[in-house]
Amino acid sequence: MTNKTNNNWFGDLVLAWYAKNGRQLPWRETKDAYRIWISEIILQQTQVAQGLPYYLRFTERFPTVKALAEANEDEVLKYWQGLGYYSRARNLHAAAQYVCNELDGQMPTDYEGLHAMKGVGDYTAADIAALAYNLPHAAIDGNVYRVLSRVFGIDTPIDSTKGKKEFAQLGAQLISTTEPGNFNQALMDLGATVCTPKNALCEQCPLNGKCYALQNNQIDDLPVKEKKTKVRDRHFYYFKIELPGNDMVIRQRTDKDIWIGLFDFPMIESETELDANALAKTPAFEQLCQRFSGLTITHCTTTVKHQLSHQTLYATLLTCQATNAKLESNELRIGQSQFDNYAIPKLIEKLIEAV
Ligand code: ADE
Repeated sequence: MTNKTNNNWFGDLVLAWYAKNGRQLPWRETKDAYRIWISEIILQQTQVAQGLPYYLRFTERFPTVKALAEANEDEVLKYWQGLGYYSRARNLHAAAQYVCNELDGQMPTDYEGLHAMKGVGDYTAADIAALAYNLPHAAIDGNVYRVLSRVFGIDTPIDSTKGKKEFAQLGAQLISTTEPGNFNQALMDLGATVCTPKNALCEQCPLNGKCYALQNNQIDDLPVKEKKTKVRDRHFYYFKIELPGNDMVIRQRTDKDIWIGLFDFPMIESETELDANALAKTPAFEQLCQRFSGLTITHCTTTVKHQLSHQTLYATLLTCQATNAKLESNELRIGQSQFDNYAIPKLIEKLIEAV
């Protein structure tokens, strides 16, 4: 199905469209590989409108790879707060330290060197190499899989090894050698704004005269995915324990689980929903009562639902009073006014708003 004879038309149409319709964004105005890297990691999980303020704040506070390497991890996480996927912030920090310690503070200048940085995969390495150094590497993200699968009528699953190889080869054939950075950005924009997952705006697409899926009524059938993402439910009962002197207890998450390094509250997790009676009967609640003397629940929020990529969280925040606390090693007793200084997951923000 793929037209492999001469694909110059593809780059020409896409670049002409981008010259007119591309979004002006700060990471497109720079050749600084450090800033492009930061933008890419932020945008892997967020749309441009939400990611832009984070990018501006982050690069203002950490304007160079050295500034990031020298920061402490808690501060980096604080600047990431609300973006989710916190391992990406930790990887950024670790990779900045690697660049400073092993590479004399100089960002790598080719695909392989970039790829060796923690958290930088095929897509990010290609994107930075093309934007910062004008190297012809096609950056293929979800948006680009969608555009390519539709235009060329490719139904190989995009999450299969075979599919990844096939799309990578096609990208390598198509990429503009004169403007590789713009080519990648153009495809991302096209996928994000025109060739969208649902209700694609085919009438506005520069490729509509060439699009296999449009001509064969298969826009909604492509791209194909092999595996359906499994989503599991989790029920979190958080205890905001207030202590004399306007103090409270927070804990830093250390387990091999979501949000490592962020702060939340002592909590009980259950596989099923629990009402107040059932919760009070759990051994975990008894243990809490032993550690926090005089534990009394004074308020309970409604359940807040929070969607992660592979998990649906149902969370409740119980405000409690206690007279004394035996803390575990990852728990802290802080003044309530200090709470804003700690990086917390979005779910905790939502729960506090719900109180
Ligand atoms: N999504 C992922 N990377 C992007 C970029 N560089 N510009 C706009 N949207 C993006």
